[in-house]
Amino acid sequence: MKFLAGFVLIAFVANICSAVPTTYRVGVGIADVTGPAADINTMGYASPSPLTSGIHTRLYSRAFVIEDDTNRVVFVSVDVGMIDQSVKTEVVKRLEATYQDKYSAKNVVLSGTHTHSGPGGYLQYVLLIITSKGWVQQSFEAIVDGIVESIRQADINMNDANIYYAKDILVDANINRSPSSYLNNPAYERAKGTHRCNQLVRGPSPSMNKTNQYISSDNKGYAGLLFEGAINGPQVMPGKGPFVAAFASSNLGDVSPNTMGAKCIDTGLPCDFVSSSCNNRTQLCIAFGPGKDMVDSTRIIGDKQFQKAWNMYNKSDSELEALEGPVQFAHQFVDMPNYTVEVQDPVNGPTTVKLCSPALGYAFAAGCVDGAGAFDFTQGTTSGNDFWNLVATALVEPSEEVQKCHAPKPVLLSTGEITWPYAWHPTVVETQLLRIGQLMIAAVPGEFTTMAGRRLREALDSEAVKNGGPSNTKTVIAGLSNVYSHYITTFEEYQMQRYEAGSVIYGPHTLSAYLDQYKKLTQSIFKNEPLDDGPSPPFLLDNQISLVSGVVFDRPAFEREFGDCLVQPYPFVRPNETVTATFVAGHPRNDLMTGKTFMTVEVKEANNWKVIRTDAHFDTFFFWERTSAVGQSEAHLRWIVPADTPDGDYRISHFGYYKNIDASIVPYNGTTESFKVAAGAA
Ligand SMILES: *[C@@H]1O[C@H](CO)[C@@H](O)[C@H](O)[C@H]1NC(C)=O
Ligand SMILES: *[C@@H]1O[C@H](CO)[C@@H](O)[C@H](O)[C@H]1NC(C)=O
Ligand SMILES: *[C@@H]1O[C@H](CO)[C@@H](O)[C@H](O)[C@H]1NC(C)=O
Ligand SMILES: *[C@@H]1O[C@H](CO)[C@@H](O)[C@H](O)[C@H]1NC(C)=O
Ligand SMILES: *[C@@H]1O[C@H](CO)[C@@H](O)[C@H](O)[C@H]1NC(C)=O
Ligand SMILES: *[C@@H]1O[C@H](CO)[C@@H](O)[C@H](O)[C@H]1NC(C)=O
Repeated sequence: MKFLAGFVLIAFVANICSAVPTTYRVGVGIADVTGPAADINTMGYASPSPLTSGIHTRLYSRAFVIEDDTNRVVFVSVDVGMIDQSVKTEVVKRLEATYQDKYSAKNVVLSGTHTHSGPGGYLQYVLLIITSKGWVQQSFEAIVDGIVESIRQADINMNDANIYYAKDILVDANINRSPSSYLNNPAYERAKGTHRCNQLVRGPSPSMNKTNQYISSDNKGYAGLLFEGAINGPQVMPGKGPFVAAFASSNLGDVSPNTMGAKCIDTGLPCDFVSSSCNNRTQLCIAFGPGKDMVDSTRIIGDKQFQKAWNMYNKSDSELEALEGPVQFAHQFVDMPNYTVEVQDPVNGPTTVKLCSPALGYAFAAGCVDGAGAFDFTQGTTSGNDFWNLVATALVEPSEEVQKCHAPKPVLLSTGEITWPYAWHPTVVETQLLRIGQLMIAAVPGEFTTMAGRRLREALDSEAVKNGGPSNTKTVIAGLSNVYSHYITTFEEYQMQRYEAGSVIYGPHTLSAYLDQYKKLTQSIFKNEPLDDGPSPPFLLDNQISLVSGVVFDRPAFEREFGDCLVQPYPFVRPNETVTATFVAGHPRNDLMTGKTFMTVEVKEANNWKVIRTDAHFDTFFFWERTSAVGQSEAHLRWIVPADTPDGDYRISHFGYYKNIDASIVPYNGTTESFKVAAGAA
């Protein structure tokens, strides 16, 4: 088995290589975490629209369990915007119930890939579920179940393995979306990186923009599917093969995959450099990806990450760096507003400062070039969002202490001072560090910017060496891990108060506190001195309020049955063309089809129909549409026939569940007539 860490985390079951590197035991697993594919607000753009209406690619949890003779660690990369405290807590609770002390909050890292096209409502703090109209139990269950299942699979298929580290630079796949902030960092520090988004160990943020209605794992998920497909083979459906490739997120706080950059959509001119606005309007300044539309951009950016990773993976073992040394971990819960840290004040020299009670600045509400200003902050007025109407009355004026603490950030929402109906933001976060030989994975509870991440990695590399660690220690950052606390910028970037800085919720010295805290974790590992657990985070499931209504019932159109094909595909199709079909459908929330599919494409082989596509493939699209107020709906299925599709007979099927008036849930399916794919078809 070979396991590559660095830009990507990859494991594959193959021959065991040379005996020199440390032999670890490694298990991998993958499981479906796709939540409700209709009517649920997507998580990430802080915007009440869109709601999910189908699936482009399914979402997966990819788990890697690694152990030596003494310790075991688990790294899980999940196709979600970010991990929430409630998800981490519940996953650990279920693992402890099954495996006792094999797994705990301390040795399990959960990291989100930062897709913005997954169903929301699974986060326990109020601010993070305003746009989703509160809590969505189905989203939460899908994520928790899938994560636990992926770890269970990894746990039962542990094999001896060597682990290799590789590092490379991927250019042309991302840009820095806040260059005016980045340029406020000291010149000597900027000179260390040739690229403004320099990070070697990380891909960009999402490509699918805030108009997308399809569930999508975005460019990182697509890169993973490509890699897994290349090893498992095309006959293995996504999420089903033994080989697992995770493209995990890192310090992507100010990184955009929209490589054509931002421009004013009304005039086509560049946006204002400092404010990223056009005529003072943020909404008009939008960054665009390299493709002809967002799906094409996702494909291009995903493919670039895959190609780079594939080249690294394809190197011979002797060209790679084998990991050598023990498996260890350190973890501590930290109460951020109470954190005190010594910083260098330009006037007063070394000064002890305390972080702030959580608050968001005005720049947060403005949004950024990848998804402009979106939040429903029309205070005092009623809006279309019932949850906002409910909680808006709880807003308080920021206290003087909070305003002073967060300066120069103008405070818009003093979330730490609002306690009704329950906590709006975390105050206790998880800090966590895994060590596998000379590799350290710093799991951070938010989005570090390029420079903030660079400072953290450098600080930990040298702290490790200072405490007797290997001289070739290298730290990678696993972003959006365990609990979400928005952004972490440098103190210099904070002064600019762009979107990222407006979203640093614990104030200007947040990064200094994390540098200090993660150094403590590093010392704990190399001195072998365990830390105390720190304060427990709250678990707020009992407090949740849910205002998204459930499925009432489904009903087919007059003289129709569920699964009837209303629009048949054209009988002859050529490669590169798109086949479409429409079916009478039930509501996708009746059954998430976890590990299954809402659609298949089949080819006829020796009189048998063989499945070649599911709703998880990149070239299929399942779209669900409500067609009447009395429970009628349709499924529109699309397959973009690949250029290399063999001539033959094909058909498309739709699967789902409908809900009767008596609330019973019944499976149905339907299949099109067969159609011919032929390169020479007229
Ligand atoms: C933008 O707003 C600022 C402050 O309100 C004002 O001074 C400036 O003139 C405005 N610029 C434009 C182009 O409207
Ligand atoms: C999102 O991408 C689509 C193309 O797929 C484009 O038409 C639209 O303008 C983009 N919208 C935003 C807000 O970026
Ligand atoms: C992998 O490496 C081998 C030998 O170094 C080379 O021949 C082959 O083309 C590479 N494959 C890919 C997909 O890069
Ligand atoms: C934070 O500090 C305050 C004041 O010192 C104290 O009352 C509170 O218990 C502390 N919170 C935690 C979680 O340690
Ligand atoms: C399909 O598209 C590819 C790439 O655009 C092209 O090379 C190929 O000739 C096309 N095939 C057919 C049958 O049109
Ligand atoms: C499709 O529905 C029919 C009729 O209810 C059922 O017999 C069959 O098993 C279903 N097929 C699949 C693949 O679920």
